Amino acid sequence: MAIERKVIEPEKIEAQREICAKIFERVTADGQRPLAMVDTYGCQQNEADSEKIRGYLAEMGYGFTGDEFQADVIVVNTCAVREHAEMRVFGNVGALNHTKKARPGQIIAVCGCMVQQEHIARKLKLSYPIVDLVFGPHELWRFPELLLQVMDRHKRVFAAEKSDGVVAEGIPQSRDGKVKAWLSIMYGCNNFCTYCIVPYVRGRERSRRPEDVIAEARELVAQGYKDITLLGQNVNSYGKDLDCGVDFADLIREINAIPGDFLIRFMTSHPRDATEKLFKTMAECEKCAHHIHLPVQSGSDRILKRMNRHYDRARYLEEVAIARRCMPDLVITTDIIVGFPDETEEDFADTLSLCEEVRFDAMFTFIYSKRVGTPAATMPDPYTREQKQVHFDQLTELANRISGEKHKEYEGRTLRVLVDGETGKEPWNLSGRTNGGRLVHLQGDKALIGQFADVTITASNTWALYGELHLPL
Ligand code: 5AD
Ligand code: SF4
Repeated sequence: MAIERKVIEPEKIEAQREICAKIFERVTADGQRPLAMVDTYGCQQNEADSEKIRGYLAEMGYGFTGDEFQADVIVVNTCAVREHAEMRVFGNVGALNHTKKARPGQIIAVCGCMVQQEHIARKLKLSYPIVDLVFGPHELWRFPELLLQVMDRHKRVFAAEKSDGVVAEGIPQSRDGKVKAWLSIMYGCNNFCTYCIVPYVRGRERSRRPEDVIAEARELVAQGYKDITLLGQNVNSYGKDLDCGVDFADLIREINAIPGDFLIRFMTSHPRDATEKLFKTMAECEKCAHHIHLPVQSGSDRILKRMNRHYDRARYLEEVAIARRCMPDLVITTDIIVGFPDETEEDFADTLSLCEEVRFDAMFTFIYSKRVGTPAATMPDPYTREQKQVHFDQLTELANRISGEKHKEYEGRTLRVLVDGETGKEPWNLSGRTNGGRLVHLQGDKALIGQFADVTITASNTWALYGELHLPL
């Protein structure tokens, strides 16, 4: 059964774009181009949201700056996954006191996951009077209307109501690069891992319709994008809420059928519902990168249960084995949380041994951060931050060693690399990514940016591969 999806009607987005035109008239009336700054924290989904905020701002006539003293509008798009990012936001928003004094009339907006938590919205209201506008992820589609309210009423506007989430098509998007593009295929999360705030702030899983996703992918290919990353909190459950008979593997197949030379990537996959069908599809679709980000979080069955992950160590290892059978060159990356409440020495040893067993190409490691309102926040947590740090350092050392060893195996091989930018550092002036997403530094003409090139790997370290353009004899 499909759950109810709150779709914002196209006319409503059209009305927002009309408001953009109205704001345009107003802010460009003196013949000068106003400037905006969008500061983004957190994950790729937030990057994609910021591209929409910039899309709206561009329609309103704003140019962009990285200098807060030049900006007429500042939007801070926040992340709630860990406390550290939240502290940085409060620090940086607090520092905007100076810019607002220097530039009266400057509008400061704070949006994103963090403000969707009541206690944070309250703190911004009471302790940060310089903030004019606060809006949650579910209100992004009506950012122009909210901004106009601030401009008209000279009053602070708060819009971060509780919501299961919406799907909105047709918001203009101002993308960051010309080579790589984010493509959101779904929003929200239904998994309720016990440590995670995401389901509370981003709402329930909602998939975009396949025809909308495919149309956007087509447009990106036509615009020359070479690397398209399909985004969702848990892409493997794509389509379950639609009842249209298209699952994530089917969607990959349809995007793969779009003519053109480009790569399909995706993130993030939850191990609970990564299927053999998905791995086979990845293997069969020539445009699909052989890379999967499959967060394991812990190698201990006891902790996985307490995290509400719905798989155990054996099942995870089995999935990795199936995936590697389908794609022997598969790059596997993961996320791991260290110091989940009551994680013992034995539990942590299980995580270390799982990492040795899988040999991840790269691991993103985090120290557990207590999130208000999640079940884990009330679990007893007898271990100190210092004890957790010891484990964290041990795991980082292991991750670095394995990445370095895996990178060494590339030396002498010739790989297809998508050249994506300049490093600004000689002699390795260009950067690129292998099909599996490994970072490559190379020397060459910047005209290569946006092209695939064969590169022979000559050196490596923990973080990157170094190579030379392969010139056929
Ligand atoms: N503390 C630490 N790390 C967390 N993550 C999610 N919630 C928390 C938390 N409360 C990590 C998980 C997830 C990644 C995006 O962030 O590893 O996969
Ligand atoms: Fe958080 Fe778990 Fe959902 Fe990922 S799958 S966003 S870790 S609740």
